[in-house]
Amino acid sequence: MTIFDQLNEAADFIRQHDPETPEVGIVLGSGLGEFAEKIERAASIPYEEIPYFKKVKVAGHAGKLVMGKVNGRKVAIMQGRYHYYEGHDIHELVFPVRVLCKLGAGKLLLTNAAGGINQCLEAGDLMIIRDHINLMGTNPLKGENDNRLGPRFPDMTEVYDEEMREIIAVGMRELGMGVKKGVYAALSGPSYETPAEIKMLSILGADAVGMSTVPEAIAARHMGARIAGISCITNLAAGISKKPLDHKEVTETADRKKEFFIELLKNTIPKL
Ligand code: HPA
Repeated sequence: MTIFDQLNEAADFIRQHDPETPEVGIVLGSGLGEFAEKIERAASIPYEEIPYFKKVKVAGHAGKLVMGKVNGRKVAIMQGRYHYYEGHDIHELVFPVRVLCKLGAGKLLLTNAAGGINQCLEAGDLMIIRDHINLMGTNPLKGENDNRLGPRFPDMTEVYDEEMREIIAVGMRELGMGVKKGVYAALSGPSYETPAEIKMLSILGADAVGMSTVPEAIAARHMGARIAGISCITNLAAGISKKPLDHKEVTETADRKKEFFIELLKNTIPKL
């Protein structure tokens, strides 16, 4: 069976739970999942029930597809995502965001937790992703291309939509937060980076580093979706701060920022 057919089957299954077409797809990153509890919900479907979705294995990632509305805007929220370091096949990893596109979500908001590389970033900042550097060593479009999904060689000049970025920037200003924008570098993980690797990433032009988002952005762009990305800077990257890195710090910072994050999403999603 082709991915195209699998996508149709998964989308049909989801439509049985909620027939309304989502306008915006949202992926909630590490520690940011609570937003999905705060919306007007029409359906909440555990990933394992959806055809061709894999089980999520990381603590802090619930693994549910939540369909509903944010201030009247129809959304499909992935509460929890798949990571490459969990051992998933890269095509399976992007399957859920492809389903969101298939359901009709023409816009996608990707969120993540990331380490801050640029000296301008502090733990607790939210950074609007301006562009990315794919250093995962893989690409979700490798292998045979299905032209029904998108072109063989999709353009990546503007992965992160300028208009959507501006709407989020306005939302941040309205909440009284300074607007930070930057380039997100994705590595496969799961080990955190060495200080030498962070220095390299800094020279390459990365402002923040993480282990997700980029495969999803590439796959969704392949299908023609418009994309925005927000990184919650949960820690300073290795060597930028003297402290050793700890997943606990990541979830604690994300937790500390969640009220603000929820407000930002509530205010901006209807405008995206
Ligand atoms: N490195 C990679 N991934 C991350 C980090 C980091 O410092 N913080 C949160 N996710």
